[in-house]
Amino acid sequence: MATHHDILEQLTTAVAVVESGPGANFRVTYLNQSAQALFGLSASRAVGQSLGALVADDHASARVLRSVLATGAPFTKREVALRVAPGSARVNYSISPLSDNELLVEFERVDRIIRIDKDERHASLQETVRKLARGLAHEIKNPLGGIRGAAQLLERQLADNEREYTSIIMAEADRLRNLVDRILGPSNLPTFGKVNIHHVIERVVALAQAQSRTAVAFVRDYDPSVPEIDADFEQLVQATLNVVNNAMVALDEVPAAAIRLRTRVVRQFTIGATRHRLVVNMDCIDNGPGVPADIAPRIFYPMISGRPDGSGLGLAITQTILARHNGLVECESERGRTVFSFYLPVRQSPAMATPDGPDGQAREDERNGA
Ligand SMILES: Nc1ncnc2c1ncn2[C@@H]1O[C@H](COP(=O)(O)OP(=O)(O)OP(=O)(O)O)[C@@H](O)[C@H]1O
Ligand SMILES: [Mg+2]
Repeated sequence: MATHHDILEQLTTAVAVVESGPGANFRVTYLNQSAQALFGLSASRAVGQSLGALVADDHASARVLRSVLATGAPFTKREVALRVAPGSARVNYSISPLSDNELLVEFERVDRIIRIDKDERHASLQETVRKLARGLAHEIKNPLGGIRGAAQLLERQLADNEREYTSIIMAEADRLRNLVDRILGPSNLPTFGKVNIHHVIERVVALAQAQSRTAVAFVRDYDPSVPEIDADFEQLVQATLNVVNNAMVALDEVPAAAIRLRTRVVRQFTIGATRHRLVVNMDCIDNGPGVPADIAPRIFYPMISGRPDGSGLGLAITQTILARHNGLVECESERGRTVFSFYLPVRQSPAMATPDGPDGQAREDERNGA
């Protein structure tokens, strides 16, 4: 037996051993390291639970498993929800006999793959919508400058009591210009430097608290081992502030309102087509009512808003900024718990970095150990 376990422990595949045989209820007797990570459970907590309690699949009930296994053939199920706190993961699992009274269960995580497919489809559609919005914004911006300039000239020729009209024209032109600028998004590509993500969060919290009338508690859950990342500090502040501002709006009138800002290091994480050795993950978690279901799949598109007074640009801007950092932003929301997750590569590889950035050469040298 010990030899089985020694080998299983070294596998990167998530593996469980469950008891079988007459009268057994498919209780877990063993979970290797990878499976413990997948379930977010220590072996000591998982052992003794039945397989059906961990896997949200009717086929995992003891009765069905017994009849399936009676055939003697290994059993595979695709895309089954796994009960992992606090959400769920999707896996393929297969079961095969290990010994007379033990079964081997292997789990292969598939949700990461599905998510990337969906991301890609979304990304191209979003790119189209954004191009359209930007094109329109550009078209509006030019005549707008003309309108404002003409109103300003006109104002000089008007009597005091008539200037009210020109000042309305100018104020409205300024408002439109503001909107158009936000649609166009951050005008500069990021200037990459070494950034401590916790400094970004601290700045955002200070800004958010200064603006807010409501009592929202900010809870910091920082991983002190998070390394500095190659990023544009000001742009990350903007990206984070948009998310935190949304949470503050959502928390208006929520009792015991809290925003948790959590950082972690993630190893071997794929964004788009690139596998990064190290990424920094920042989650903004609020206990508000959740994203309205009807707009949830589209919240990252420009001009999608669930609020009558919202312009729907905050998250589109956040996504633009994260994309320029070769990062990723995701959202998971249910009543009482909404999470916006940022994933940022720790290092911008030379190919991905801004070409000819002001500090491009310096970074290149640093990477080469100079
Ligand atoms: N934490 C959250 N909780 C609930 N709903 C949210 C949350 N964050 C975003 N949303 C929903 O997503 C919508 C889109 O957000 P986004 O920031 O893009 O635009 P906005 O806040 O409406 O307007 P703007 O940010 O441009 O002022 C919001 O209107 C809101 O309905
Ligand atoms: Mg917003």
